Amino acid sequence: MKLRIAVLAGDGIGPEIMEQGVAVMSAVARKFGHEVTYKEALCGAHAIDEVGDPFPEDTFKTCMEADAVLFASVGDPKFDNDPTAKVRPEQGLLAMRKKLGLYANVRPVETFECLLHKSPLKNEIVSGANFICIRELTGGMYFGKKLEGTEEAYDTNYYSRPEVERILRVAYQYARQRRKHLTVVDKANVLASSRLWRKVAQDMAGEYPDVTTDFMYVDNAAMRMIQDPRFFDVMVTENTFGDILTDEGSCITGSMGLLPSASTGEHTPVFEPIHGSWPQGKGLNIANPLAQILSVAMLYEYFDLKAEGKLIRQAVNASLDANVRTPEIQVEGAPHYGTREVGKWIVDYIESH
Ligand code: IPM
Ligand code: MN
Repeated sequence: MKLRIAVLAGDGIGPEIMEQGVAVMSAVARKFGHEVTYKEALCGAHAIDEVGDPFPEDTFKTCMEADAVLFASVGDPKFDNDPTAKVRPEQGLLAMRKKLGLYANVRPVETFECLLHKSPLKNEIVSGANFICIRELTGGMYFGKKLEGTEEAYDTNYYSRPEVERILRVAYQYARQRRKHLTVVDKANVLASSRLWRKVAQDMAGEYPDVTTDFMYVDNAAMRMIQDPRFFDVMVTENTFGDILTDEGSCITGSMGLLPSASTGEHTPVFEPIHGSWPQGKGLNIANPLAQILSVAMLYEYFDLKAEGKLIRQAVNASLDANVRTPEIQVEGAPHYGTREVGKWIVDYIESH
């Protein structure tokens, strides 16, 4: 297969983990005879510094002309500490999501047996947990009408029926391919927007009789996720709730550095780790490249290249089993490996299997 990949490395640890993601992508392409070409483009703080826009028109064009976007992370403390900054790196990410119409963000939450001890939760609670959070990504408070004054401010949690319907369809498709259990997470006891979600889901449930649909308030879901994460199979929710719940989900896995994601919708799909740019780790060769590498697996799988995705997952598991791990997940006393060493080990594994 021919694949044109837009590479948006962004800020902080982004370029370092991206280097490993691309190396793995290329190793798999060589092995399976795919022809992958890459085009780098600016985004985030980098892009603000260079051209004054966190998602420049040129980058948008590169994304539109690609088959997929591999994205790392954006963000820089010099903007976080300046509430008066007119443009922020995160706006680049939001612009990308909106302009590419990426309404469905798929965030799998899985556990790795050998990392159970890294979870702050008890082993017997998290062991075997495996669910997917489908987060709506182009609506809700992130994009609704806003007012930002010094005396008053608001963000509108707007959703239309078609917006809710299309994300629920994605969620039902995933549920059908998994354990056929969909949990719609909302706050329908308080919010009008949530009641619309619930109504639409109830109207659609009949079309998917093979899937069990249940509803859960978001506060309760936040509790259930740490009390009994195995309850969930596919969870679907609005933008803000999904943002919050997926960070919580990373505690089940044990490290933010292990969670990939896929965002799909109207135009080119984007594959990216859920973690941020971790500026403190920048340039130190300590960032975990696995979320980026697993995002490459999701990219291949999106194009129905299942064996390719499987080999990457197998290589990642093997690296963990061999204790070839970055410091935050390394077992006590074992040698520490850097971002590059973990990436190289995985490339070698792919080449020799
Ligand atoms: C995420 C991030 C982003 C979000 C930020 C960086 C704008 O936290 O992808 O979860 O809130 O969506
Ligand atoms: Mn987030």
